[in-house]
Amino acid sequence: MPKWLDNAVFYEIYPQSFLDTNADGIGDFQGIINKLDYIRDLGFNALWINPCFLSPFGDAGYDVADYYTVAPRYGTNEDLKRLFAEAHKRGIHVLLDLVPGHTSVEHPWFRESMKPERNEYSDRYVWTDSVWEAPENMGCLRALSQRDGSCAVNFFTCQPALNYGYYNRTRPWQQSPEDEGPRATLEAMMDVMRFWLTMGCDGFRVDMAMSLVKNDPDGLGTIALWQKVFNVLEREFPEAAMVSEWGEPEKSLQGGFHMDFLLHFGPSHYNDLFRCQEPYFSDRGLGDASKFVERYLESREKAGKDGLICIPSGNHDMTRLAKHVEGEEKKLAFTFLLTMPGAPFVYYGDEIGMRYVENLTSVEGGYERTGARSPMQWDSCVNAGFSAAPKEKLYIQQDPAADRPTVAQQLPDPDSLLNFVKQLTQLRQAHPALQNRGGIHFVSNGAPKQALAYEREQAGEKLLVAMNPFREAVAFPYSGKLGEALFTFGGAASQKGEAVQLPPVSAVIYRLD
Ligand code: NOJ
Repeated sequence: MPKWLDNAVFYEIYPQSFLDTNADGIGDFQGIINKLDYIRDLGFNALWINPCFLSPFGDAGYDVADYYTVAPRYGTNEDLKRLFAEAHKRGIHVLLDLVPGHTSVEHPWFRESMKPERNEYSDRYVWTDSVWEAPENMGCLRALSQRDGSCAVNFFTCQPALNYGYYNRTRPWQQSPEDEGPRATLEAMMDVMRFWLTMGCDGFRVDMAMSLVKNDPDGLGTIALWQKVFNVLEREFPEAAMVSEWGEPEKSLQGGFHMDFLLHFGPSHYNDLFRCQEPYFSDRGLGDASKFVERYLESREKAGKDGLICIPSGNHDMTRLAKHVEGEEKKLAFTFLLTMPGAPFVYYGDEIGMRYVENLTSVEGGYERTGARSPMQWDSCVNAGFSAAPKEKLYIQQDPAADRPTVAQQLPDPDSLLNFVKQLTQLRQAHPALQNRGGIHFVSNGAPKQALAYEREQAGEKLLVAMNPFREAVAFPYSGKLGEALFTFGGAASQKGEAVQLPPVSAVIYRLD
């Protein structure tokens, strides 16, 4: 388990939309390098960069055409290597996005695989043995070539599924994960990892990590596959960190992943907190965090104590945090995100409350996700400082609102969301109990109109974190004794007998004696 994960706080960068330094309307590696000081000063010490490899961009780069070469629009492999080195100089680790489940239809492996003559790549993808048979429960590509078969797709139809075998096999063309084809696919993906890890990257966020072995209802085949991968990685790259897009920590962490994300889909009740009609972090007080808490504790119990359950502020697939959680409510949401165990992940722009841009035409397979991928708002210059290109050339349109938030406006304002986030990341770094591996014990579970409160503990330090998003004061039973206040927003807590009362819309962190 890489030691650096003990206090890693991640910042997710969608490279298209971060900073454009060559005025072509799209972000680039140099843009990320230019902003590394900003990222470090905000208290982040790790990055996740969305896919940046050669691609026809039918799905924003999640349709890879060459795993070994970066897309020229971002720079060169050398530039990416320089980015790793510049990040490391500042104590920042960098995860790339690995897409092992599928490639683009333009990948040379797929071109070879489409040929009717058998070759090295015939079994690299999931093919049926007749064009008239489609793989069950999956989309497929048919009649793209003279190969007699249908090829399963893993996500969009531009993303043919790589072949890691089937767990339950009912048809002759379904291979076992132990067959030669699936083993070669896995070995090819291991080589991709080796290549970038050797070049200086610190690990991967793994796209659709749960999707590899097919017909695997309980994930047992996919878990076994990842265990194999981790046996090798731990030997060859013991400091490499891996986070899965899986959303079920009890499975992914068993597979060997160091971290798993809670997602806007799956069983975690993540949406109850930030992304539903009545999110818990709304001052209406109608939201309910209790199912989230219940499920979170269950996952922690089942996943064991070593792996990290990571809660993101958002990502490139969800609406923006600011769409459902407004004004000061966002500060309470960040108090939660930055004081929970597991490594926090903050999506670029969420630290200034960037809005979801409504009604955008889809760009590169973004569809409704496009509004959460608009270019970063740095300052009040043209294109909010994102790019010197003409406005019409920007990769995605920016938030047109006159009062759109910017970094330049928030940096000098002590009450800004940006400085709030910074204050909390600093507090987290200063207190082991708040960090990624510390224990957690909920004392109020965030039922409607109730506080969300938990004790955090590590290395002899014990703290109480409590939040009340509701616009009225609330109290919860608590017999522990509050000590020094390390952090208060919206007023201090008061303790009367066996109860703690929180003012309306407030968040506090106390040392416990
Ligand atoms: C999940 C990624 O986050 C998403 O953006 C992508 O479209 C799919 N996986 C397919 O790779």
